[in-house]
Amino acid sequence: MGMIRLQKYMAECGIASRRKCEEMIADGLIRVNGDIVTEPGTKVDPLVDKIEFKNGKKEIKPEKKVYLMLNKPVGYVTTVKDEKGRSTVMSLLKGVEEKVVPVGRLDMYTSGLLLFSNDGEFINKVTHPSHETTKTYVVKTRGVPSEKDLEKLRNGIKIEDYTTSPAKVEMLLQDNTNDIARLRIEIHEGRNRQVRKMVQAIGLSTIALKRESVGNLSLDGLNKGEWRYLSEEEVKGILSE
Ligand code: URA
Repeated sequence: MGMIRLQKYMAECGIASRRKCEEMIADGLIRVNGDIVTEPGTKVDPLVDKIEFKNGKKEIKPEKKVYLMLNKPVGYVTTVKDEKGRSTVMSLLKGVEEKVVPVGRLDMYTSGLLLFSNDGEFINKVTHPSHETTKTYVVKTRGVPSEKDLEKLRNGIKIEDYTTSPAKVEMLLQDNTNDIARLRIEIHEGRNRQVRKMVQAIGLSTIALKRESVGNLSLDGLNKGEWRYLSEEEVKGILSE
């Protein structure tokens, strides 16, 4: 790691935001090698220096990197803190001590597989448009698409100012009597509300939307509202996609 600014190191250890850490330093709450430092720009070498809280009770160390998946129910917002006071996905992560954040997002009324981590590099890679992790959704539509509509979705369709990349689309259920269909859509991108907009672009509306899988991960065995840690192999699998 080499020399790093104290507040940056503290933030990377999951203590608080960089700004908040600067304040903590200025308030004289942090010791480096036994001495209280109040200069936020102070450089430290985490491999050599002992960095701890003033009371000496807790050393400031990098958090173990963790990765987990949640089976998100509808009605929860994908955010760490919601200004409007709505229920957030964070409230479902009972027992998770690490400071994880959502990897990407699912709309409030979308359910299914949502990843979390405290590994900034992992989050950047997986959410970067060039990474193109495969994501599979099942969508229940009001209206039954024609074969021509399905081809449009497969080949790429204009949603607002953007044309989607080729997608795999399969009709799982066609219920003409009730004017309902169920489709499985596999995409490699993740524009805002993309699946809903694709459905809208063929003149139908979305009744329910669920993300079934992300890369090599699926929801198997995880009930709504439950979460679990990913194994090392699972994390490697996603990164190598
Ligand atoms: N597409 C959507 O429309 N919503 C989601 O939450 C994810 C993908």
